Amino acid sequence: MAKQHFFHETPVVSVDLQKVLASGVPTEFLDRFLPRFLREPTPLEVGALKYWLLAAGQFLVRFYFEYGVKHLRQSGGVFLDRLGVDRIYDVMAKGYEDQHGRSVNWADRAWRREAAQLAAIVAAETFQDGPFVVLDCCTGPGLTMEQIFLWLKRYGIKARIIGGDYNEKMVRYAAERAKVLSSPGIKIEIHRLDAMKLVDNPDRDLYSFARNSVDFIAVVFGLGGVVDPIAFARGALEALKPGGVLFVCDMHRPDPENPGIFSPFLGLRKWKMPVLEASNWYDGAERKAMRDVWGWLRDHTRFRYLIPLVTWMSPDGRWYRFKRTYHRHLAEPWHFGLPFLTTSQTVWQKIEILPEEAAWCEAILAACDTEPMRT
Ligand SMILES: C[S@@+](CC[C@H](N)C(=O)[O-])C[C@H]1O[C@@H](n2cnc3c(N)ncnc32)[C@H](O)[C@@H]1O
Repeated sequence: MAKQHFFHETPVVSVDLQKVLASGVPTEFLDRFLPRFLREPTPLEVGALKYWLLAAGQFLVRFYFEYGVKHLRQSGGVFLDRLGVDRIYDVMAKGYEDQHGRSVNWADRAWRREAAQLAAIVAAETFQDGPFVVLDCCTGPGLTMEQIFLWLKRYGIKARIIGGDYNEKMVRYAAERAKVLSSPGIKIEIHRLDAMKLVDNPDRDLYSFARNSVDFIAVVFGLGGVVDPIAFARGALEALKPGGVLFVCDMHRPDPENPGIFSPFLGLRKWKMPVLEASNWYDGAERKAMRDVWGWLRDHTRFRYLIPLVTWMSPDGRWYRFKRTYHRHLAEPWHFGLPFLTTSQTVWQKIEILPEEAAWCEAILAACDTEPMRT
C-alpha cells in the first residue's frame, strides 16, 4: 500500500549554514552543539492503513476537545504574548495542581521531585559560607518550590529558596503554600518576577537578582509559557554563580529515533509507537491540549538545544555559557500507559569560556531561527 504521510518535516533547529561558515565558525564546532539530526527533517513514513486509522482517532480527539472540554478552551491558535499567557494563568491558578496533574497523569509529581533531588545533591556538594540559594522560576502555586524545600530539609542544607512567578494569583497561592513550610535553616521568599528579566529589571514591581548570586535555578513546566526563552537563558546566566546549575523540565517534540516504550502488562510485549507519538503531537491530544486547554501553539523544543549557545560577559570581562551536563528525552507513559508524554529534562552548568568560543557561540545563535516552532 502506498505511503501516505510524513511527520517532522521541519528540523528541530533551523540554521543558516552559509552565515555560520561566513563568520568563521569551524563546522566541527557547529556539529558539537547542533548535530546534523537536529538540523535536518526527521521524516516518518506511514502506511495508508495506519494513516487512515490515525486520522479516525484524531477525528475523535478533535470532537472531544471541540465539544467535551469546550469550557476549558482558552485561545484561538495564536502565539500568546506575556499578557496573554498571564490571562491563561489567571484562569488556571485556582485548580492548577489538579488540572495539570490530570493532563499528564500525575507524572508532574515525579518531575518536581526530580528537580528537588537534583537541587539537594548539588547543594550537598557546594561548600560555601552562606546559604545555598535556589530559584524556582515560574513557580506557579509553588509545587516545585515545596518539593525543593522538603529535599533540602531532608539533606540538612541551609538555604534560601525563592519562588518566582509573573502571575499575581499564582504568587498569592505560592505564598500561602510557603507559610506552612518551616525549617530553622531554610528561608523561603515568594516574589513576582519576569523570567525574561531576572537581573536589573527596570520595573520596580518585579523582583531582580544580583549578578552571580544564585546557586541553582529550576524551571519545571515553566519555559513553555516564557515568550522569549533566550532572554531567560541570558538572565539565568547572569544571575547564577559560576558553576551554578540550571534544570529545565518541559514538553519536547517526539523524536522518531527515540520513542517511548509501551508495555501494557506483565512486560509481555514492548511496543514502540513513533508514528502514534508524532501523530498525537501534531494532530492529536497533545496539540489539542496545548492549544485549546493551555492556550498556545508554541513548541519550545529547539530552545533546549540553543541554550548552550547563549553567552554573557561579566562586568570584569569574563565570558560564560551553559555547558550541558545531562539531557534526557523520552516519551513517558501517559494515561493507559501509552508513551505519549514527550518531555525532556536537561541540566546545564554555568562555565567560563574563552572570548573566541563566546564569539563562535553567538555567531551560530545569530544564524539560527529563534522563533518558537508551531506544534
Ligand atoms: C505550567 S505553570 C508551572 C508551575 C510550576 N513550575 C509547576 O511545577 O507546576 C507555568 C507558570 O509559569 C509562569 N510564567 C509564564 N511566563 C512567565 C514569565 N515571563 N515570568 C515568570 N513566570 C512566568 C506562569 O504564570 C505559570 O504560573
